[in-house]
Amino acid sequence: MKILFINGPNLNMLGRREPELYGHLTLNDINERIAKKAADLGVEVEFYQSNHEGALIDRIQAAKDENIDAFVVNAGAYTHTSVAIRDALLSTDIKFIEVHLSNIFRREKFRNSSYLSDIAYGVIVGFGYFGYELALEALKYG
Ligand code: DQA
Repeated sequence: MKILFINGPNLNMLGRREPELYGHLTLNDINERIAKKAADLGVEVEFYQSNHEGALIDRIQAAKDENIDAFVVNAGAYTHTSVAIRDALLSTDIKFIEVHLSNIFRREKFRNSSYLSDIAYGVIVGFGYFGYELALEALKYG
């Protein structure tokens, strides 16, 4: 089983960005934890982050020709704006879990809606970096 973790804009700033909301770990720290857990579970993982909508779409599209079984997607602010990322995910037919570090439902109104949730296999919000590990387990055992 191979899973691609996709992180969108500003998630490269984790650790330095609003730590009271997003925690103190950097994206590298988080990815290292995921990689360790994946090794324990016998799952292959790959990581991709971009601040650019088009680059995220290109990476999602490319996955169609790779043997990727699932995505874990935190599209950052594009979650709330991007029909294009939604369409890219639909075009691949690869299942995905949507993850948000913060609980987007107890924040500003504009964060309460997602262009991805209704087409996601599952949604995990509010558990910080642990959400990515939960997603990994859900894909392995779910
Ligand atoms: C986020 C929530 C989004 O609203 C925000 O724009 C982010 C991070 C989260 O992980 O909680 O960049 O996706």
